[in-house]
Amino acid sequence: MSRYILALDQGTTSSRAILFDRAGRVCGSAQRELSQSFPQPGWVEHDAQAIWTAQLAVARAVMATAQASASDVAAIGIANQRETIVLWDRATGVPLAPAIVWQDRRTAGACDALRAAGHAAQIAERTGLVLDAYFSATKLRWLLDHVPHARQRAARGELAAGTIDSWLIFKLSGRHLSDTSNASRTMLMNLQSLDWDADMLALFDIPGAVLPEIVASSAVACMTDPVWFGAPIPIAGIAGDQQAATFGQACLKPGMAKNTYGTGCFMLMHAGSMPRPSHNDLLVTVGWTLGAGAAARTDYLLEGSVFMAGAIVQWLRDGLGIIDSAAQVEQLAREVPDAGGVVLIPAFTGLGAPHWDPYARGTIVGLSRGSGRAHIARAALESIAYQSVDVLAAMEKDAGIRLHELRVDGGAACNDLLMQFQADMLDVPVVRPAVTETTALGAAYLAGIATGFWAGTDEVTAQWCIDRTFLPQMDADQRGMRLHAWQRGLARARAWIE
Ligand SMILES: Nc1ncnc2c1ncn2[C@@H]1O[C@H](COP(=O)(O)OP(=O)(O)OP(=O)(O)O)[C@@H](O)[C@H]1O
Ligand SMILES: [Mg+2]
Repeated sequence: MSRYILALDQGTTSSRAILFDRAGRVCGSAQRELSQSFPQPGWVEHDAQAIWTAQLAVARAVMATAQASASDVAAIGIANQRETIVLWDRATGVPLAPAIVWQDRRTAGACDALRAAGHAAQIAERTGLVLDAYFSATKLRWLLDHVPHARQRAARGELAAGTIDSWLIFKLSGRHLSDTSNASRTMLMNLQSLDWDADMLALFDIPGAVLPEIVASSAVACMTDPVWFGAPIPIAGIAGDQQAATFGQACLKPGMAKNTYGTGCFMLMHAGSMPRPSHNDLLVTVGWTLGAGAAARTDYLLEGSVFMAGAIVQWLRDGLGIIDSAAQVEQLAREVPDAGGVVLIPAFTGLGAPHWDPYARGTIVGLSRGSGRAHIARAALESIAYQSVDVLAAMEKDAGIRLHELRVDGGAACNDLLMQFQADMLDVPVVRPAVTETTALGAAYLAGIATGFWAGTDEVTAQWCIDRTFLPQMDADQRGMRLHAWQRGLARARAWIE
């Protein structure tokens, strides 16, 4: 009997492969950093071919280290950075251009034009999304318009496009598929029918022939080509990284929420099995579709996406050079009792939820002669927490409930200073689980449930356990003062680009 589920977690900053056993424990992992390309201000690109080779390499490496062959792996689950779009040649499997990454702002003007033409409300109603350059539709249109001959070749059915799940699955199996959770981030899928929306395809001028078939998140979708792992392995779990993390955090009932502190910060709350519109500029998105055909069941989530979180810490390391590693930021920030009046607004790629301002830019205010590295480091960490306060406020209004705990994960969730400050600013307990690789774990659960490795979602709930709870400790006056300063700083960062 197979011992493992293999999870592939293709993130913005790295590609990981993790083997999980039946107890949901990490039994091996391998990781490779991904190089980022910023060819122009506001542009962010990835080399799709490099994503594939790194993902295959880490998958093979983790299996080799665990001495696992294909027969030891019951199924593969894939979680991936979302919205990032790849356009490739169906016959050769070669990408025609760099992948346009979710953070890329090159289509902000195209979104403005659509807004001015009055399309925002219809887009929100059909897709659950706020009209913004963040999503795939305008990026794909840009590729079709700028890659030589792409439109003619797409019309002849020679080209394929897709988000990163779709790209990896094509390379692994030769099939052109995407799951409902990833498709819900393209701005081209209808949230009710869970299929491509003809009006959206027309609005964004996307030929349906380039798009993948939409399948369930948890069901056997296809088999890997035996050439990759020696024998075929079923791909049975597919989800966008944030939806996978929500599943891995066992947020399986309405009102349960998690926040992932990775490159960006993504807070998602379970919103039941019907898509209800947001009235506070949040996104309504597919969480996952469990099972195929008539038995399929889809859950929806409310989401607040913050573009810069852990990436600010990377900037302190690579841009400013005031730390050597991300882990050092906590020690540096602890050298001072507070940020000394410094407020950092990390709008390096604009602002996401709930502000949606593509023209905001990074800003540091409140500097005085006493300000130093430690204050900047502290202000950077605090900014991660402040952004999540704005999102949770919108979420509680939308859902009409008060959150009673926030589950956390992602690379920066290991930062105790940040987690305590988050609990203080939200005035809600922050709960860190024992396994913080929840993105990979969620993808593994989706694959394992589909193949009988796990019995169902009750096992997900039973396996989730707490590492540490951070209780709010700050009094209301202190909290109010800090949140007020944050709001004033935010106002100065907005609408900077003319
Ligand atoms: N101790 C720390 N304190 C604060 N931030 C940290 C710490 N350790 C790592 N980070 C940040 O966490 C991020 C990496 O998190 P994670 O590994 O979850 O990201 P990822 O999964 O590669 O990215 P993605 O968002 O693309 O999925 C980096 O931006 C890094 O700066
Ligand atoms: Mg990740």
